[in-house]
Amino acid sequence: MEPILQVRDMVTRFYSVDGVVHAINGVNFDLYEGETLAVVGESGSGKSVTMMSIVNLIPQPPGKVEGGQAIFSYGEMAQDLLQLSEDEIRHVRGGQIGFIFQDPISSLNPTMTIGSQIAESMTEHLGFSASEARSKTVELLRNVGIPDSERRFNAYPHHFSGGMRQRVMIAIAVACRPKIVIADEPTTALDVTVQAQIVDLVKRLQEQMGVAVVWITHDLGVVAGLADRVLVMYGGTVVESAPVDNLYEDPRHPYTIGLLKAIPRLDATGEAETEELEVIEGVPPDLYQELTLCPFAPRCGYAFDRCWAEVPPLIEVGVQHGAACFYDVERGGPRNGS
Ligand SMILES: Nc1ncnc2c1ncn2[C@@H]1O[C@H](COP(=O)(O)OP(=O)(O)OP(=O)(O)O)[C@@H](O)[C@H]1O
Ligand SMILES: [Mg+2]
Repeated sequence: MEPILQVRDMVTRFYSVDGVVHAINGVNFDLYEGETLAVVGESGSGKSVTMMSIVNLIPQPPGKVEGGQAIFSYGEMAQDLLQLSEDEIRHVRGGQIGFIFQDPISSLNPTMTIGSQIAESMTEHLGFSASEARSKTVELLRNVGIPDSERRFNAYPHHFSGGMRQRVMIAIAVACRPKIVIADEPTTALDVTVQAQIVDLVKRLQEQMGVAVVWITHDLGVVAGLADRVLVMYGGTVVESAPVDNLYEDPRHPYTIGLLKAIPRLDATGEAETEELEVIEGVPPDLYQELTLCPFAPRCGYAFDRCWAEVPPLIEVGVQHGAACFYDVERGGPRNGS
């Protein structure tokens, strides 16, 4: 199967008053049609900036995508999203790539009814007539679990609860039948029961529509039941990429191994039992420095001389399984050739 999105050597920096933030340092990954790709990693690892860079949503200045490619292809069409004009990329964002953010209230227009926000994007991107867009919107609202959708068409965002607003955001994201939906921590602000409902909703819509979903989270606990594949990010790089079962059973990057140990177990009430949580010692990398070594080396129990001298590339360690590490945790020693 061909990837619908191929990101290669992407570099994004922020030119702040305090210096240059090396936020994304050569990110590589593929996204396949119809799959769910989870992107995990601690705060500041570059999950959001990676996805924002691809669709030109980083604030510019201070941000700048300084290198790489993001080849978006389906059917006969293939284009490098990083080379598109502002108008072209806006069209891609509204039509072929949809977004669900953590905070729906700041992404919804407070002065427009939710129905007209959805219908407007259908008339703009799908060329529907006003009445066609209205009836498709009512149908879509019903499909995302908003009861009494005929009447709710005319409600404003502040009339909805957090969970219902997230359903509206999801409706907007899928309204134009996108090829890709990017969900950036869409359930973080919601309580546990509502979180599970939103996860189920996105899964169901994905099955109905065959859309590829990128699900950003720093919670590896929610990934198992959701993702086909996982990208683990650290210090603005992808340090491991694997099918979800492989990642849990056979993690190869010391950071991933540490993360998996840090998953809080949930008790019967869904409350995290934090006393079982293991944390990875040390602090995240200083992104004001250019990356010249393995970003995880200072926190890694396996680091040896090469790790301090070079940035490890993503090395193939199994079927569809890559790890950016010079140390072979399986054999217990530097990887062959390291
Ligand atoms: N506007 C900005 N100006 C300067 N630095 C920025 C800006 N936006 C992001 N960064 C920096 O880029 C790095 C990556 O940030 P990013 O938001 O992608 O992290 P993340 O993995 O999404 O974290 P979180 O889990 O907290 O959402 C961080 O060091 C962040 O401080
Ligand atoms: Mg983020």
